[in-house]
Amino acid sequence: NSHLIEKPTQEHDALIATLPLQPFIKRPFTFTHPFRLYKGVWISEFLLRGALTMQQHFKSRPTDLFLASSPKSGTTWLKALIFATLTRNNYPLDQHPLRTHNPHQCLPHLEREFANGRSQIIEVIPSPRVMSTHLPYSLLSESIINSGCQIVYVWRDPKDVLVSLWFFVQKIMGGADKVATFDQFYDLFCQGVHSQGPIWNHVLGYWEESKRRSEKVLFLKYEHILQEPVKHAKQLAHFIGCPYTEAEENNGVVEQVVELCSIKMLKDLDVNKGGNRGTSDGPISHAYYFRKGEAGDWKSHMTQEMAERLDAIIGDKFKGSGLQI
Ligand code: A3P
Repeated sequence: NSHLIEKPTQEHDALIATLPLQPFIKRPFTFTHPFRLYKGVWISEFLLRGALTMQQHFKSRPTDLFLASSPKSGTTWLKALIFATLTRNNYPLDQHPLRTHNPHQCLPHLEREFANGRSQIIEVIPSPRVMSTHLPYSLLSESIINSGCQIVYVWRDPKDVLVSLWFFVQKIMGGADKVATFDQFYDLFCQGVHSQGPIWNHVLGYWEESKRRSEKVLFLKYEHILQEPVKHAKQLAHFIGCPYTEAEENNGVVEQVVELCSIKMLKDLDVNKGGNRGTSDGPISHAYYFRKGEAGDWKSHMTQEMAERLDAIIGDKFKGSGLQI
């Protein structure tokens, strides 16, 4: 069924070649693919190909559920939480697939599958489908925006996103000597030059939409979930239409789901210590997705001055939105 296999085209490549490239720096610092500026978004050439193909061909269904996030904002955690919430009654929790599968194996990444020419993976999932995207709201397709599907968005203190990203890129590129220094990373991040940046636009896009359509867009913050995981797990379950029953709450099922999805639990599983997934950036070890999982690790990597400067940039962009870091 050839129409199911939608591949990036030469037309897309021609367009991409005309777009501004990320500022040149001597050392390689990002993934294998450079960033281009497309409609105000810095995005890797590879994922942009996927996004453009997706925009042309993807047919969203009203029952679709998306997890949206800027990279390193808690995607892996929310993938686990969403998947565990939806499937909690399909398996005994001590035999749940999350114990043998990395969360990224449980929810496909929309634009990456299109970039890989594997959109059929998405097309053949029976409804209701659950998928993830790193695209900002402004680059979602008309089809996604108009289908009436739901979106769960997670964001995180940008200072911790930056630190997490820096460590992640080092691992992918094979060592600290292969990537830009933290200071270079920081400077580019402050200019919005990072995967799907600027982060303030990413966060604001979904924030505004969650205010307009709160029944369709759930807006969550990583640090808030860390503080009150059970409360947020219940909110998530309610939003996606499978609230915990009184019996489940009394039997501690919410706590068990939260525990199953905790970094402590997931990090030590064989699948997450040893496995890897093939990507355009080469095989990415599952272990790379689990580092500290804390709030405020930026304090160990940034001076107070750097923190204040980044906070001020973002505070300025957030002004009047009602959002705070
Ligand atoms: P740190 O590098 O700060 O530890 P993403 O999943 O969007 O790529 O984000 C990765 C970040 O989320 C990493 O942050 C990682 O440790 C953290 N993380 C992964 N799984 C988690 C979980 N189950 N609970 C909390 N944080 C988690």
